[in-house]
Amino acid sequence: MEQGALTLFATAPKGLELLLVEELRALGAINPREKLAGVSFQGDLMLAYKACLWSRLANRILLFLTKVPAATPEELYKGVQTIKWDEHVARDGTLAVHFISSNSNITHTLFGAQKVKDAIVDQMREKFGVRPSVARDQPDISVYVYLHRNEATISLDLSGESLHKRGYRQEGGAAPLKENLAAAILLRSGWQDIAKAGGALEDPMCGSATLLIEAAQMAADIAPGLARQYFGFLGWKKHQAALWKKLIAEAETRKQQGLPNLPTIVGHDEDAYAIKIAFENIDKAGLRGKIHVEKRDLSAFVPKANAKPGLVVTNPPYGERLGEVEELKPLYTLLGERLKEYFQGWHAAVFTGNPELGKVMGLRAKKYYALYNGAIACKLFLFDVKLEAFVDRSEEADNERRIRTAQRAIEGQDVNAVQMFVNRLQKNLKHLKRQAKKQQLTSYRVYDADIPEYAFAIDIENDSAQVQEYQAPRFVDSEKVMQRRQEVLAVLPEILGLPSTKIFFKIVDRKK
Ligand SMILES: C[S@@+](CC[C@H](N)C(=O)[O-])C[C@H]1O[C@@H](n2cnc3c(N)ncnc32)[C@H](O)[C@@H]1O
Repeated sequence: MEQGALTLFATAPKGLELLLVEELRALGAINPREKLAGVSFQGDLMLAYKACLWSRLANRILLFLTKVPAATPEELYKGVQTIKWDEHVARDGTLAVHFISSNSNITHTLFGAQKVKDAIVDQMREKFGVRPSVARDQPDISVYVYLHRNEATISLDLSGESLHKRGYRQEGGAAPLKENLAAAILLRSGWQDIAKAGGALEDPMCGSATLLIEAAQMAADIAPGLARQYFGFLGWKKHQAALWKKLIAEAETRKQQGLPNLPTIVGHDEDAYAIKIAFENIDKAGLRGKIHVEKRDLSAFVPKANAKPGLVVTNPPYGERLGEVEELKPLYTLLGERLKEYFQGWHAAVFTGNPELGKVMGLRAKKYYALYNGAIACKLFLFDVKLEAFVDRSEEADNERRIRTAQRAIEGQDVNAVQMFVNRLQKNLKHLKRQAKKQQLTSYRVYDADIPEYAFAIDIENDSAQVQEYQAPRFVDSEKVMQRRQEVLAVLPEILGLPSTKIFFKIVDRKK
C-alpha cells in the first residue's frame, strides 16, 4: 500500500490533542493535524496498526471511508450504500454501528445507527441473499459515523474498543484514572526523560496503580496494546494478518529488551482494597515484581531506600462539594510537607480536579496544564521540589526543614566521609572556645572551609550558629554538594551543642 494512502483520525480525550500529534508523528504519521478531540493524519495500513498498538493517548483509530450529505434519513441511507460493504465484512460476518450527531437534523443517535445498519445489511442481502448480523461485543467491523451539519463522515473503527482499555484493568477500585489520561499526565511530567536517567517514580496515593503501570510500560518500552485480545480490524476483510503478526513480534522483542531496565517504581495507598486491586492489575499487566506497592498512609511517605531521585506523581482525591474540599485541604498540605521534607531534588506532579487544593501544598508550581478527567476540568501541577519553590521560606522554617531532612538522610549511613570534617571542627572548637572565653568574645568563626570538600564557613554568635555554604562551581556534581550539605547539617546540632532552631543556614557566593 502506498505511503499515506489512508486517511485516518485518532480520537482522544479533550486536552490531549497536542501530545497526540507528537506521538503519532513519532510513529510515522504523515501530516498529523490537531482537531477538536482528536488528530487527523495520513499513513499506510502499517501505520494504522502501529497507532492501535502503540498509542498511549488515543481512544480510537478511525479509517475514513467516505463523507456524504445526510440531511434526511433517506439521504443517510443512500450515502452509506455508496460504499461496497462486501469489501469490508463477510456476508455472514458481524458488525456494530456507532453514531454521533452534532448540529444536524438527525439527532436521535439510535435511530441514526439503525438507518446505517439497514443500509449496510440491505446492500449485502440484495447481493448475496444473506446478511451480516449485529453484534454489540467484538464485531468483525465497527462502523463509526459522525454526523455534523448534516454531513456524515463514515469510518471504520480499527481499534474496535477504546484503546484506553489496555487489558490489565480489573473492575473496581475507587475513581481510577483512564489509562490514556494517566499516560498524558506522565508525558507532561517529563517521566520519559526521568526514567531514561534511571530516576525512580513514586505515587503515594496510587489507588488501582494506573499511573504506576503506565509509567512502567513507558519506561520498559512496552506497547500499551500488547495485552489486548481484540481490535476492530481482526475480523475486517482487508486485515493483513502477517503484517500485524510482525508488529506484535517486534513489540514483544522491545518489551523483552526494555523490561530489565526498569527504574524503581513504587506505590502506596491507605486503602487495603485499593492495594489488592493494584496488585491484581500489576499482575495482569505482567509486571509482578517490577512495581512495589504497599498499604501505607501518606503521613509515612518517604522515598524507597536507594531510590534515585525522580518523580513523585499522584492523583489525590478531590472533592466536588465545598465541604469536601475543605476536608481535603489537610491531605494536600501533608503531601506538600512530605515532599518538602523528604523529596528535595525530586520532581513532583499532582493531578487534581480542584486547583484550590493544589495551592495549599506550600510549593510553588513551575508549570500547570489543563486536562479533563471525563467532564471534570482538572489541572496538572508540576513542581521542582527545591527550596526556591517553598512558599514558606521564613529562615526558621527553612532551617528546621533542612536540618530535619539532613538528619534523616544521614541516619544509618556510612559517615566515614564526614568524620574528617567532624574531627577538624571539634578540634577548632576546643581551641577557639578557650580563646574566646579568655578574650570575652561572643562571636567567632570556628570553621572556614578548612577541608576544601566541605566548603562551609561556620560562625558562632552568642547562642546560635550561622552556617554559610560556599556555592560550588558548576562542574561539581550537584548530588555530591547536596550530600555534603546534608551531612554537615545533620551533625552540627550535636557538635555545636545547639538546637537545630538555633543553627541558621544559607548559600553564599564565595567571590562576594
Ligand atoms: C483519586 S484516587 C487515585 C486513583 C488512582 N490514580 C487510580 O488510577 O486508580 C485517590 C486515592 O488516594 C487514596 N488516599 C486518600 N487519602 C490517603 C492517605 N492519607 N494516604 C494514602 N492514600 C490515600 C485513596 O484511597 C484513593 O485510592
